[in-house]
Amino acid sequence: MLIDGKKTSDEIKAEIAATVDEMVRQGQKRPHLAAILVGHDGGSETYVANKVKACEQCGFTSTLIRYEDSVTEDELLEAIDRMNHDTDVDGFIVQLPLPKHISEQRIIEAIDYRKDVDGFHPVNVGRMMIGLPCFLPATPAGILELLKRHGIETRGAECVVLGRSNIVGKPVAALMMQKAVPGDATVTVCHSATRNLKDICRSADIIIAALGSPEFVKADMVKPGAVVIDVGTTRVPDPTRKKGFRLCGDVDFAAVEPICSWITPVPGGVGPMTIVSLMKNTLLAARHDIYPA
Ligand code: GUN
Repeated sequence: MLIDGKKTSDEIKAEIAATVDEMVRQGQKRPHLAAILVGHDGGSETYVANKVKACEQCGFTSTLIRYEDSVTEDELLEAIDRMNHDTDVDGFIVQLPLPKHISEQRIIEAIDYRKDVDGFHPVNVGRMMIGLPCFLPATPAGILELLKRHGIETRGAECVVLGRSNIVGKPVAALMMQKAVPGDATVTVCHSATRNLKDICRSADIIIAALGSPEFVKADMVKPGAVVIDVGTTRVPDPTRKKGFRLCGDVDFAAVEPICSWITPVPGGVGPMTIVSLMKNTLLAARHDIYPA
């Protein structure tokens, strides 16, 4: 069956909007998310535009701050310092990737962890690892929310994560193994040096594919009845499309869909849930739910 991330994310946005309405009725300010976008990468432009649109749907204030690719690291650090001290901004993100002359790690560590709604600051990463309240990274949080809202049992499940990025693979593996619901799974992380990857995948009750390799997961890698979560969003050229490309997942959907119990489509699966998780974090930041003011 199809896991409809678009529909689930619409439901959650409506829940958030209702909460914001109530906050405003009680005289509180609207949650405010700011985004810093550097350059004109097509994917980043789309993601940030979708984040701004989601803010509107949730009743948040949003601010978009743009820089050209030529921006210096110091200029960016100054912008972050301004956001850290702007009392109206509850949370902010710096859209990744950044140009090569800028250290992403320096930028991430300059963000006040109490406003780090991406959950990328080492304080939030560390707190997540030991099960303390924190801002969870958006894509892993969105995946867990999809599993929860579709009643998918993770306790004791064999979960195979493909990919070990700081943004998806590592954190989703940590969350799936934590003693919680969803969680409590037996997690295996596979990567470019993994031997007998096919056999490992075939043993999985849940496969989370986050390696950025179009249609990598084939039917012979999936156990019948498995749950397949596709995090891939590679742009592949497609002259039949208006934009000249289409989004391609890490799973060969046509071949895998008939044999699994649940599967996320691309687009319309994990992507919309990532955005909604960022909205959730912004609401938590505005209410000082994680880090009391
Ligand atoms: N680039 C890809 N995913 C993300 C994300 O979740 N947040 C930010 N800031 N950049 C990204």
